[in-house]
Amino acid sequence: MPGPHVVIVGSDGKLSAELRAVFDSLPRWDPILHVVEEARQAGDTVRSRRPQIALVQMNGQASALRVLAEEIQSASPETQLVALFDPNSFPQDVPESAVLIEALRSGVSDFLRRPVSRNDVEQLFDRLGSSRPKAATSHGRVCSFISNKGGVGKSTLAVNTAAGLAQKYPGQVLLIDASLQMGVCAAMLDLNPTTTLIDAVRERDRLDETLIRQLATPHDCGLDLLAAPADAIEGSEVDDEVVSRILALSRRAYEYVVVDTFPMFDPVVIAVLDLSDASFVVLDNVVPTVLGTSKLLKVIEGLRYPAEKFSVVLNRFLRAPGHPRVEDVENRLQWEITSVIPYDKKLLLSANTGQPYVLHAGRWSGTGKAMKRFVQDAEAAAKLESLSDGQSTSDEESISQSEQAGFQAMTSPPESG
Ligand SMILES: Nc1ncnc2c1ncn2[C@@H]1O[C@H](COP(=O)(O)OP(=O)(O)OP(=O)(O)O)[C@@H](O)[C@H]1O
Ligand SMILES: [Mg+2]
Repeated sequence: MPGPHVVIVGSDGKLSAELRAVFDSLPRWDPILHVVEEARQAGDTVRSRRPQIALVQMNGQASALRVLAEEIQSASPETQLVALFDPNSFPQDVPESAVLIEALRSGVSDFLRRPVSRNDVEQLFDRLGSSRPKAATSHGRVCSFISNKGGVGKSTLAVNTAAGLAQKYPGQVLLIDASLQMGVCAAMLDLNPTTTLIDAVRERDRLDETLIRQLATPHDCGLDLLAAPADAIEGSEVDDEVVSRILALSRRAYEYVVVDTFPMFDPVVIAVLDLSDASFVVLDNVVPTVLGTSKLLKVIEGLRYPAEKFSVVLNRFLRAPGHPRVEDVENRLQWEITSVIPYDKKLLLSANTGQPYVLHAGRWSGTGKAMKRFVQDAEAAAKLESLSDGQSTSDEESISQSEQAGFQAMTSPPESG
Protein backbone atom coordinates (compact mmCIF):
# COMPACT_ATOMS: atom_id res chain seq x y z
CA MET A 1 0.00 0.00 0.00
CA PRO A 2 1.44 3.44 -0.81
CA GLY A 3 2.48 5.45 2.18
CA PRO A 4 2.84 6.46 4.85
CA HIS A 5 4.50 9.71 3.97
CA VAL A 6 7.67 10.02 6.06
CA VAL A 7 10.01 12.96 6.44
CA ILE A 8 13.46 12.26 7.92
CA VAL A 9 15.17 15.17 9.58
CA GLY A 10 18.95 14.77 9.72
CA SER A 11 22.07 14.99 7.69
CA ASP A 12 23.37 11.52 8.46
CA GLY A 13 23.69 9.86 5.04
CA LYS A 14 24.11 6.43 6.66
CA LEU A 15 20.77 6.83 8.38
CA SER A 16 18.93 7.65 5.14
CA ALA A 17 20.48 4.61 3.47
CA GLU A 18 19.61 2.40 6.49
CA LEU A 19 15.99 3.55 6.42
CA ARG A 20 15.63 3.29 2.66
CA ALA A 21 16.87 -0.31 2.78
CA VAL A 22 14.34 -1.18 5.48
CA PHE A 23 11.49 0.69 3.78
CA ASP A 24 12.21 -1.07 0.48
CA SER A 25 11.91 -4.44 2.20
CA LEU A 26 8.41 -3.87 3.63
CA PRO A 27 5.85 -6.14 1.98
CA ARG A 28 2.78 -4.29 3.23
CA TRP A 29 3.89 -0.69 2.89
CA ASP A 30 5.45 1.56 0.31
CA PRO A 31 6.57 4.60 2.29
CA ILE A 32 7.08 7.91 0.53
CA LEU A 33 10.35 9.22 1.87
CA HIS A 34 11.65 12.72 1.96
CA VAL A 35 14.92 13.78 3.60
CA VAL A 36 15.47 17.20 5.15
CA GLU A 37 19.12 17.69 5.90
CA GLU A 38 18.91 20.91 7.89
CA ALA A 39 16.80 20.97 11.06
CA ARG A 40 15.87 24.60 10.39
CA GLN A 41 14.13 23.56 7.16
CA ALA A 42 12.04 20.95 8.95
CA GLY A 43 9.14 23.29 9.77
CA ASP A 44 8.73 24.50 6.20
CA THR A 45 8.96 21.00 4.80
CA VAL A 46 6.36 19.41 7.08
CA ARG A 47 4.08 22.40 6.59
CA SER A 48 4.07 21.90 2.85
CA ARG A 49 4.23 18.07 2.74
CA ARG A 50 2.08 17.21 5.79
CA PRO A 51 3.74 13.82 6.39
CA GLN A 52 2.15 11.26 8.72
CA ILE A 53 5.55 10.75 10.36
CA ALA A 54 8.55 12.94 11.03
CA LEU A 55 11.61 10.93 12.03
CA VAL A 56 14.12 12.96 13.98
CA GLN A 57 17.47 11.81 15.17
CA MET A 58 18.21 12.17 18.87
CA ASN A 59 21.68 13.52 19.44
CA GLY A 60 21.47 13.85 23.22
CA GLN A 61 20.67 17.56 23.14
CA ALA A 62 17.27 17.78 24.81
CA SER A 63 16.82 21.48 24.09
CA ALA A 64 17.50 21.05 20.37
CA LEU A 65 14.98 18.21 20.20
CA ARG A 66 12.38 20.29 22.04
CA VAL A 67 12.79 23.21 19.63
CA LEU A 68 12.56 20.92 16.63
CA ALA A 69 9.51 19.14 18.05
CA GLU A 70 7.72 22.42 18.69
CA GLU A 71 8.46 23.62 15.19
CA ILE A 72 7.19 20.43 13.58
CA GLN A 73 4.10 20.25 15.76
CA SER A 74 3.09 23.84 15.13
CA ALA A 75 3.72 23.45 11.38
CA SER A 76 1.76 20.19 11.09
CA PRO A 77 -0.08 19.11 14.27
CA GLU A 78 -1.24 15.80 12.77
CA THR A 79 2.33 14.68 12.05
CA GLN A 80 3.57 12.04 14.50
CA LEU A 81 7.01 12.79 15.82
CA VAL A 82 9.16 9.68 16.08
CA ALA A 83 12.64 9.85 17.59
CA LEU A 84 15.44 7.66 16.29
CA PHE A 85 17.94 6.74 18.93
CA ASP A 86 21.09 4.74 19.21
CA PRO A 87 21.38 3.42 22.80
CA ASN A 88 25.16 3.16 22.39
CA SER A 89 25.42 6.89 21.86
CA PHE A 90 23.88 7.80 25.22
CA PRO A 91 26.28 8.92 27.96
CA GLN A 92 27.11 5.98 30.25
CA ASP A 93 26.01 7.70 33.44
CA VAL A 94 22.57 8.68 32.11
CA PRO A 95 19.91 5.94 32.16
CA GLU A 96 18.19 5.31 28.83
CA SER A 97 14.82 5.92 30.48
CA ALA A 98 15.86 9.45 31.47
CA VAL A 99 16.76 10.31 27.88
CA LEU A 100 13.52 8.82 26.56
CA ILE A 101 11.39 10.60 29.16
CA GLU A 102 13.03 13.88 28.21
CA ALA A 103 12.13 13.14 24.59
CA LEU A 104 8.51 12.31 25.52
CA ARG A 105 8.32 15.60 27.37
CA SER A 106 9.45 17.33 24.20
CA GLY A 107 6.46 15.93 22.31
CA VAL A 108 7.94 12.78 20.78
CA SER A 109 5.18 10.18 20.51
CA ASP A 110 7.17 7.12 19.49
CA PHE A 111 10.69 5.76 19.15
CA LEU A 112 12.74 3.74 16.70
CA ARG A 113 15.93 2.12 17.90
CA ARG A 114 19.02 2.01 15.70
CA PRO A 115 20.01 -0.03 13.85
CA VAL A 116 16.47 0.20 12.51
CA SER A 117 14.82 -3.18 12.04
CA ARG A 118 12.04 -4.11 9.63
CA ASN A 119 9.99 -5.50 12.48
CA ASP A 120 10.17 -2.26 14.49
CA VAL A 121 9.19 -0.18 11.46
CA GLU A 122 6.24 -2.45 10.67
CA GLN A 123 5.04 -2.25 14.26
CA LEU A 124 5.38 1.52 14.18
CA PHE A 125 3.35 1.80 10.96
CA ASP A 126 0.73 -0.59 12.32
CA ARG A 127 0.42 1.47 15.50
CA LEU A 128 0.00 4.67 13.55
CA GLY A 129 -2.40 3.04 11.11
CA SER A 130 -4.60 1.62 13.84
CA SER A 131 -4.49 4.57 16.17
CA ARG A 132 -7.60 6.69 16.21
CA PRO A 133 -7.03 10.17 14.86
CA LYS A 134 -6.54 12.53 17.76
CA ALA A 135 -7.24 16.18 17.25
CA ALA A 136 -4.46 18.12 18.83
CA THR A 137 -2.42 15.51 20.59
CA SER A 138 -0.41 12.52 19.56
CA HIS A 139 -0.81 10.58 22.78
CA GLY A 140 -3.34 9.95 25.49
CA ARG A 141 -3.56 12.11 28.57
CA VAL A 142 -2.31 11.16 31.99
CA CYS A 143 -3.84 12.49 35.18
CA SER A 144 -2.70 11.50 38.64
CA PHE A 145 -3.82 11.85 42.24
CA ILE A 146 -1.30 12.51 44.98
CA SER A 147 -1.12 13.45 48.64
CA ASN A 148 1.32 13.12 51.49
CA LYS A 149 -1.44 12.20 53.93
CA GLY A 150 -3.34 8.92 53.73
CA GLY A 151 -7.09 8.55 53.59
CA VAL A 152 -7.91 11.89 51.97
CA GLY A 153 -9.66 10.36 48.95
CA LYS A 154 -7.08 9.85 46.19
CA SER A 155 -8.39 6.40 45.33
CA THR A 156 -12.01 7.53 45.55
CA LEU A 157 -11.35 10.40 43.15
CA ALA A 158 -9.16 8.32 40.83
CA VAL A 159 -11.79 5.57 40.53
CA ASN A 160 -14.63 8.03 40.00
CA THR A 161 -12.65 10.07 37.50
CA ALA A 162 -11.76 6.98 35.50
CA ALA A 163 -15.34 5.68 35.64
CA GLY A 164 -16.76 9.07 34.67
CA LEU A 165 -14.35 9.39 31.74
CA ALA A 166 -15.10 5.82 30.66
CA GLN A 167 -18.80 6.66 30.32
CA LYS A 168 -17.76 9.18 27.70
CA TYR A 169 -14.82 7.26 26.23
CA PRO A 170 -15.55 3.54 26.68
CA GLY A 171 -12.51 1.35 26.09
CA GLN A 172 -10.25 4.39 26.09
CA VAL A 173 -9.60 4.84 29.80
CA LEU A 174 -6.98 3.00 31.84
CA LEU A 175 -6.89 3.30 35.62
CA ILE A 176 -3.47 2.38 37.02
CA ASP A 177 -3.44 1.55 40.70
CA ALA A 178 0.07 2.60 41.68
CA SER A 179 -0.76 2.34 45.38
CA LEU A 180 2.10 -0.06 45.77
CA GLN A 181 1.65 -0.85 49.45
CA MET A 182 -2.05 -1.56 49.40
CA GLY A 183 -4.16 -0.83 46.34
CA VAL A 184 -7.90 -0.56 46.74
CA CYS A 185 -9.10 0.33 43.23
CA ALA A 186 -10.03 -3.27 42.37
CA ALA A 187 -12.18 -3.50 45.51
CA MET A 188 -13.75 -0.12 44.79
CA LEU A 189 -14.72 -1.51 41.37
CA ASP A 190 -15.71 -4.96 42.66
CA LEU A 191 -13.12 -6.58 40.37
CA ASN A 192 -10.89 -9.59 40.99
CA PRO A 193 -7.97 -9.06 38.64
CA THR A 194 -5.87 -12.05 37.72
CA THR A 195 -3.06 -9.85 36.38
CA THR A 196 -1.60 -6.71 37.93
CA LEU A 197 1.03 -4.04 37.58
CA ILE A 198 3.57 -6.62 38.71
CA ASP A 199 3.01 -8.66 35.56
CA ALA A 200 3.79 -5.52 33.55
CA VAL A 201 6.92 -4.99 35.65
CA ARG A 202 8.08 -8.58 35.18
CA GLU A 203 7.43 -8.38 31.43
CA ARG A 204 9.20 -5.03 31.15
CA ASP A 205 11.40 -6.19 28.26
CA ARG A 206 8.55 -7.25 26.02
CA LEU A 207 6.03 -4.70 27.15
CA ASP A 208 4.04 -2.89 24.49
CA GLU A 209 0.57 -1.34 24.13
CA THR A 210 -1.04 -4.67 23.30
CA LEU A 211 0.40 -6.34 26.40
CA ILE A 212 -0.67 -3.42 28.60
CA ARG A 213 -4.23 -3.86 27.35
CA GLN A 214 -4.03 -7.62 27.93
CA LEU A 215 -2.83 -7.17 31.51
CA ALA A 216 -5.60 -4.70 32.34
CA THR A 217 -8.92 -5.93 33.71
CA PRO A 218 -12.03 -4.51 32.05
CA HIS A 219 -14.92 -3.10 34.08
CA ASP A 220 -18.49 -2.93 32.78
CA CYS A 221 -18.48 0.86 32.83
CA GLY A 222 -15.87 0.90 30.04
CA LEU A 223 -12.66 1.44 31.96
CA ASP A 224 -9.71 -0.94 32.19
CA LEU A 225 -7.85 -1.39 35.47
CA LEU A 226 -4.16 -2.17 35.79
CA ALA A 227 -4.46 -3.33 39.36
CA ALA A 228 -2.03 -2.76 42.21
CA PRO A 229 0.50 -5.41 43.25
CA ALA A 230 -0.94 -8.06 45.55
CA ASP A 231 1.12 -6.92 48.53
CA ALA A 232 3.94 -4.63 49.65
CA ILE A 233 6.60 -7.27 48.90
CA GLU A 234 5.51 -7.40 45.27
CA GLY A 235 5.16 -3.62 45.35
CA SER A 236 8.86 -3.29 46.14
CA GLU A 237 9.64 -4.67 42.67
CA VAL A 238 8.25 -1.51 41.11
CA ASP A 239 10.76 1.24 40.36
CA ASP A 240 10.57 4.64 38.74
CA GLU A 241 12.07 3.46 35.47
CA VAL A 242 9.48 0.77 34.86
CA VAL A 243 6.65 3.06 35.95
CA SER A 244 7.80 5.60 33.34
CA ARG A 245 7.80 2.91 30.70
CA ILE A 246 4.37 1.60 31.66
CA LEU A 247 2.93 5.11 31.60
CA ALA A 248 4.52 6.00 28.29
CA LEU A 249 3.07 2.86 26.70
CA SER A 250 -0.29 3.20 28.43
CA ARG A 251 -0.87 6.66 27.09
CA ARG A 252 -0.24 5.36 23.62
CA ALA A 253 -2.80 2.60 24.14
CA TYR A 254 -5.52 4.72 25.78
CA GLU A 255 -6.96 8.22 25.41
CA TYR A 256 -6.91 8.71 29.19
CA VAL A 257 -4.70 7.19 31.85
CA VAL A 258 -5.69 7.87 35.45
CA VAL A 259 -3.10 7.04 38.12
CA ASP A 260 -3.82 6.48 41.79
CA THR A 261 -0.79 6.76 44.07
CA PHE A 262 0.08 6.19 47.71
CA PRO A 263 0.79 8.87 50.29
CA MET A 264 4.51 9.12 49.90
CA PHE A 265 6.73 11.34 47.78
CA ASP A 266 9.32 9.02 46.32
CA PRO A 267 10.93 8.37 42.90
CA VAL A 268 7.92 6.34 41.72
CA VAL A 269 5.53 9.19 42.43
CA ILE A 270 7.96 11.65 40.83
CA ALA A 271 8.03 9.43 37.72
CA VAL A 272 4.21 9.55 37.70
CA LEU A 273 4.30 13.35 38.01
CA ASP A 274 6.87 13.63 35.24
CA LEU A 275 4.49 11.98 32.80
CA SER A 276 1.26 13.49 34.12
CA ASP A 277 -0.50 16.11 32.06
CA ALA A 278 -2.52 17.01 35.12
CA SER A 279 -2.03 16.10 38.74
CA PHE A 280 -4.47 16.56 41.59
CA VAL A 281 -3.18 17.20 45.06
CA VAL A 282 -5.89 15.91 47.38
CA LEU A 283 -6.52 16.96 50.97
CA ASP A 284 -9.32 17.28 53.47
CA ASN A 285 -10.02 20.25 55.72
CA VAL A 286 -8.32 18.90 58.80
CA VAL A 287 -5.55 21.14 60.15
CA PRO A 288 -2.63 18.62 60.21
CA THR A 289 -3.47 17.57 56.64
CA VAL A 290 -3.56 21.19 55.49
CA LEU A 291 -0.17 21.86 57.13
CA GLY A 292 1.29 18.71 55.55
CA THR A 293 -0.10 19.58 52.14
CA SER A 294 1.44 23.03 52.39
CA LYS A 295 4.84 21.30 52.69
CA LEU A 296 4.07 18.99 49.76
CA LEU A 297 3.19 21.95 47.55
CA LYS A 298 6.49 23.61 48.48
CA VAL A 299 8.34 20.46 47.42
CA ILE A 300 6.42 20.45 44.14
CA GLU A 301 7.25 24.10 43.56
CA GLY A 302 10.91 23.29 44.23
CA LEU A 303 10.83 20.63 41.51
CA ARG A 304 9.97 23.37 39.01
CA TYR A 305 7.07 21.65 37.35
CA PRO A 306 4.78 24.07 35.54
CA ALA A 307 2.27 25.27 38.15
CA GLU A 308 -0.64 24.75 35.69
CA LYS A 309 -0.05 21.03 35.89
CA PHE A 310 -1.30 20.92 39.48
CA SER A 311 -4.75 21.46 40.92
CA VAL A 312 -5.64 21.27 44.58
CA VAL A 313 -8.81 19.37 45.49
CA LEU A 314 -10.50 19.67 48.83
CA ASN A 315 -12.26 16.35 49.39
CA ARG A 316 -14.25 15.05 52.35
CA PHE A 317 -15.04 18.70 52.93
CA LEU A 318 -16.79 19.19 56.24
CA ARG A 319 -18.36 22.41 57.26
CA ALA A 320 -18.37 22.28 60.99
CA PRO A 321 -17.10 24.47 63.77
CA GLY A 322 -13.36 24.05 64.14
CA HIS A 323 -12.84 22.87 60.55
CA PRO A 324 -10.95 25.28 58.27
CA ARG A 325 -13.10 26.95 55.62
CA VAL A 326 -12.18 26.85 51.93
CA GLU A 327 -10.61 30.30 52.10
CA ASP A 328 -8.67 29.36 55.25
CA VAL A 329 -7.20 26.41 53.41
CA GLU A 330 -6.37 28.55 50.37
CA ASN A 331 -4.69 31.15 52.55
CA ARG A 332 -2.64 28.57 54.34
CA LEU A 333 -1.60 26.80 51.14
CA GLN A 334 -1.25 29.94 49.05
CA TRP A 335 -2.90 27.89 46.30
CA GLU A 336 -6.33 28.13 44.79
CA ILE A 337 -8.68 25.24 45.55
CA THR A 338 -10.10 24.26 42.17
CA SER A 339 -12.67 21.70 43.38
CA VAL A 340 -14.50 20.95 46.57
CA ILE A 341 -16.15 17.57 47.14
CA PRO A 342 -18.24 17.49 50.31
CA TYR A 343 -18.02 14.78 52.92
CA ASP A 344 -20.84 12.42 52.01
CA LYS A 345 -21.55 8.96 53.40
CA LYS A 346 -22.74 7.89 49.96
CA LEU A 347 -19.08 7.79 48.91
CA LEU A 348 -18.26 5.43 51.75
CA LEU A 349 -21.22 3.29 50.81
CA SER A 350 -20.15 3.11 47.18
CA ALA A 351 -16.65 2.04 48.28
CA ASN A 352 -18.22 -0.70 50.39
CA THR A 353 -20.38 -1.98 47.54
CA GLY A 354 -17.76 -1.66 44.79
CA GLN A 355 -19.98 0.64 42.72
CA PRO A 356 -18.25 3.85 41.62
CA TYR A 357 -20.39 6.66 42.94
CA VAL A 358 -20.25 8.77 39.77
CA LEU A 359 -21.97 6.07 37.71
CA HIS A 360 -25.25 6.40 39.53
CA ALA A 361 -24.97 9.73 41.31
CA GLY A 362 -27.87 12.09 40.81
CA ARG A 363 -27.03 14.91 38.46
CA TRP A 364 -28.77 17.36 40.74
CA SER A 365 -27.56 16.20 44.11
CA GLY A 366 -24.86 18.37 45.64
CA THR A 367 -22.22 15.68 45.87
CA GLY A 368 -23.22 14.04 42.58
CA LYS A 369 -23.00 17.34 40.81
CA ALA A 370 -19.66 18.19 42.43
CA MET A 371 -18.24 14.79 41.46
CA LYS A 372 -19.50 14.91 37.87
CA ARG A 373 -18.11 18.38 37.48
CA PHE A 374 -14.85 17.26 38.96
CA VAL A 375 -14.59 14.62 36.23
CA GLN A 376 -15.20 17.31 33.62
CA ASP A 377 -12.50 19.44 35.20
CA ALA A 378 -10.08 16.54 35.28
CA GLU A 379 -10.68 15.95 31.57
CA ALA A 380 -10.14 19.63 30.81
CA ALA A 381 -7.03 19.85 32.97
CA ALA A 382 -5.57 16.72 31.39
CA LYS A 383 -6.04 18.35 28.03
CA LEU A 384 -4.31 21.39 29.47
CA GLU A 385 -7.40 23.45 28.86
CA SER A 386 -7.86 26.44 31.06
CA LEU A 387 -9.90 25.79 34.16
CA SER A 388 -11.03 29.39 34.08
CA ASP A 389 -12.77 29.24 30.71
CA GLY A 390 -16.25 29.05 32.15
CA GLN A 391 -16.35 25.30 32.72
CA SER A 392 -14.62 25.54 36.04
CA THR A 393 -16.09 23.76 38.99
CA SER A 394 -14.88 26.15 41.58
CA ASP A 395 -16.54 25.55 44.90
CA GLU A 396 -18.46 28.81 44.56
CA GLU A 397 -19.94 27.70 41.25
CA SER A 398 -20.86 24.25 42.50
CA ILE A 399 -22.44 25.79 45.53
CA SER A 400 -24.35 28.51 43.77
CA GLN A 401 -25.81 26.09 41.24
CA SER A 402 -26.52 23.39 43.73
CA GLU A 403 -30.17 22.76 44.28
CA GLN A 404 -29.52 21.09 47.57
CA ALA A 405 -29.74 23.33 50.54
CA GLY A 406 -27.76 20.79 52.51
CA PHE A 407 -24.78 21.16 50.24
CA GLN A 408 -25.11 24.93 50.28
CA ALA A 409 -25.11 24.87 54.02
CA MET A 410 -22.10 22.61 54.10
CA THR A 411 -19.97 24.79 51.88
CA SER A 412 -21.01 28.27 52.92
CA PRO A 413 -18.91 30.07 55.52
CA PRO A 414 -19.77 29.18 59.08
CA GLU A 415 -21.74 31.65 61.08
CA SER A 416 -19.62 33.64 63.43
CA GLY A 417 -19.68 32.57 67.01
N1 LIG B 1 -16.03 12.92 49.86
C1 LIG B 1 -16.04 11.89 50.69
N2 LIG B 1 -16.98 11.80 51.66
C2 LIG B 1 -16.99 10.78 52.53
N3 LIG B 1 -16.11 9.78 52.52
C3 LIG B 1 -15.14 9.81 51.60
C4 LIG B 1 -15.05 10.87 50.63
N4 LIG B 1 -13.99 10.61 49.84
C5 LIG B 1 -13.44 9.47 50.29
N5 LIG B 1 -14.12 8.98 51.33
C6 LIG B 1 -13.82 7.79 52.13
O1 LIG B 1 -12.62 8.07 52.82
C7 LIG B 1 -11.85 6.88 52.95
C8 LIG B 1 -10.48 7.15 52.37
O2 LIG B 1 -10.64 7.36 50.96
P1 LIG B 1 -9.57 6.81 49.93
O3 LIG B 1 -9.25 5.39 50.18
O4 LIG B 1 -10.05 7.19 48.60
O5 LIG B 1 -8.32 7.72 50.36
P2 LIG B 1 -6.81 7.63 49.85
O6 LIG B 1 -6.28 9.00 49.87
O7 LIG B 1 -6.76 6.90 48.59
O8 LIG B 1 -6.16 6.77 51.01
P3 LIG B 1 -4.68 6.12 50.99
O9 LIG B 1 -3.76 7.25 51.20
O10 LIG B 1 -4.71 5.17 52.16
O11 LIG B 1 -4.50 5.45 49.69
C9 LIG B 1 -12.62 5.80 52.24
O12 LIG B 1 -13.35 5.09 53.18
C10 LIG B 1 -13.56 6.55 51.31
O13 LIG B 1 -14.75 5.85 51.06
MG1 LIG C 1 -5.70 5.14 48.15
